[in-house]
Amino acid sequence: MRNQLVVGNWKLHGSLLENQSLLNLLKQSLHDLHGVDTAVCLPYVYLFQAQAMLQDSAIAWGAQNVSQFTEGAYTSCVSAAMVAEFGCRYSIVGHSERRALKLESNQVATKRVLHALHAGLTPIFCVGETVDERDGGMAELIVKNQMLNIVYGLDDEAFALAKKFNMVIAYEPVWAIGTGQHASPEQAQRMHAFIRWMIAERDPEFATQIRIVYGGSLSPSNAQSLLSMPDIDGGLLGRAALVAEDFIQICRTAALCQHQKQSAVEPPTPQPVSLA
Ligand code: PGA
Repeated sequence: MRNQLVVGNWKLHGSLLENQSLLNLLKQSLHDLHGVDTAVCLPYVYLFQAQAMLQDSAIAWGAQNVSQFTEGAYTSCVSAAMVAEFGCRYSIVGHSERRALKLESNQVATKRVLHALHAGLTPIFCVGETVDERDGGMAELIVKNQMLNIVYGLDDEAFALAKKFNMVIAYEPVWAIGTGQHASPEQAQRMHAFIRWMIAERDPEFATQIRIVYGGSLSPSNAQSLLSMPDIDGGLLGRAALVAEDFIQICRTAALCQHQKQSAVEPPTPQPVSLA
């Protein structure tokens, strides 16, 4: 059975002092959760601090991106192997804020995933549609295109690594990120089921194992309705990750939802979802 995963994406936030207090609060409260993995993805410069503070805790840490290059004359880039040296377990890849800055096409994001996997990291690969794309009835098509490189573009060796390191998909509708307007549980469930079905077309076994987390204005008040959906395996949090109480509350809700899912008779198998 898939554990829930709750990951904080700190984005461009933090300071040595603020991080110390936030990480201490998280450490104190998140050591006894069952069925939930937790992590924070911080700016690169704080990875050393995260490693020092979290290495004996239940909270993993990660980067918010990795370079598509191994090494060379690429000013400001940071490679997957470099962040792995700081004990990172995860790296976010393909976040819509990176895609919006035009720095990340699907092809580049896939290369970053490959580098993360070869460094032994778990990529958290983000997909999601804009409001115009949803209003135009294109949401599934957009997500399908973002997923294609992962589902069919990875060769067998890379796909085996994706399985080995438990690659994660984050469905983050762009219109929900930082807006306070989250996807409805039904909207999110439908897209998560669609993503799982795409993965099942390549590898049915992996489709039942891979965690597909939801991101976009996830908060303590909507976490229960979203995380209890059968194909939603946790959350990627922006704003709520910066407030200790909110992050902790969402992790506890995830534990509750996980308990309820474990008590369910049969885990659902991926079903085909048609493009509307
Ligand atoms: P948000 O951000 O929770 O502030 O909407 C989520 C994300 O960008 O990962």
